[in-house]
Amino acid sequence: EWSDEAVIYVNGVRRVLPDGLAHLTLLQYLRDIGLRGTKLGCGEGGCGACTVMVSCYDRTTKKSLHFAINACLAPLYSVEGMHIITVEGLGDRQRGLHPVQECLAKAHGSQCGFCTPGFVMSMYALLRSSKEPPTEEQIEDCLAGNLCRCTGYRPIIDAFRVFAKTDNLVYTNSSSQNTDGQAICPSTGKPCSCKNEPDANANGSSLSSSVERYSPCSYNEIDGNAYDDKELIFPPELQLR
Ligand code: FES
Ligand code: FES
Repeated sequence: EWSDEAVIYVNGVRRVLPDGLAHLTLLQYLRDIGLRGTKLGCGEGGCGACTVMVSCYDRTTKKSLHFAINACLAPLYSVEGMHIITVEGLGDRQRGLHPVQECLAKAHGSQCGFCTPGFVMSMYALLRSSKEPPTEEQIEDCLAGNLCRCTGYRPIIDAFRVFAKTDNLVYTNSSSQNTDGQAICPSTGKPCSCKNEPDANANGSSLSSSVERYSPCSYNEIDGNAYDDKELIFPPELQLR
């Protein structure tokens, strides 16, 4: 039965949008409902800190389409009938990180972390919208709208290279070890000490345990059936609207 409710899904959860929110951007709405992983940087489409993935259904091809968008520019009601996935929809330290998140941590691709959810979502949207593993060039292109003031980009690009067609098996960085076998930080070029530093996390776990747990995945592991099983699906209700 047809309903005139304005419905969106956020990370797989159905939400009815009340009237009177036309002054809100999607970013303000997401943060208002407690999803503060998506950040407000510039507020004008320039930095990508607010990037989320939006999925809509194409009735002609009967497929869902996925886009990375700047939530700071999208009026809330413009995403009616769509599924929004934010960084919280991928994973976290408690439930386990998504491979896109974990490879950034492993490769020192996050420092202050303010830009990180945006980078993660741009990369995630590329993976979900490409049938084939992307090329390194496509990966760089998809990050063109994401700015980072800390890492200098190289560790981020290197991290995401595990998903690329030409180098999709193991994250290896030829400069990641010095002659003594000691890890070299890709950001500073100096011997890496972070493995010995306890994380400030209250549960006593450390970043090093998260890094050691990480085993690089190939794109194929999150593609095909296994991929569909693990990722948030397009809500069937929205295919009918
Ligand atoms: Fe900078 Fe949205 S906050 S692009
Ligand atoms: Fe600080 Fe990117 S890690 S802005």
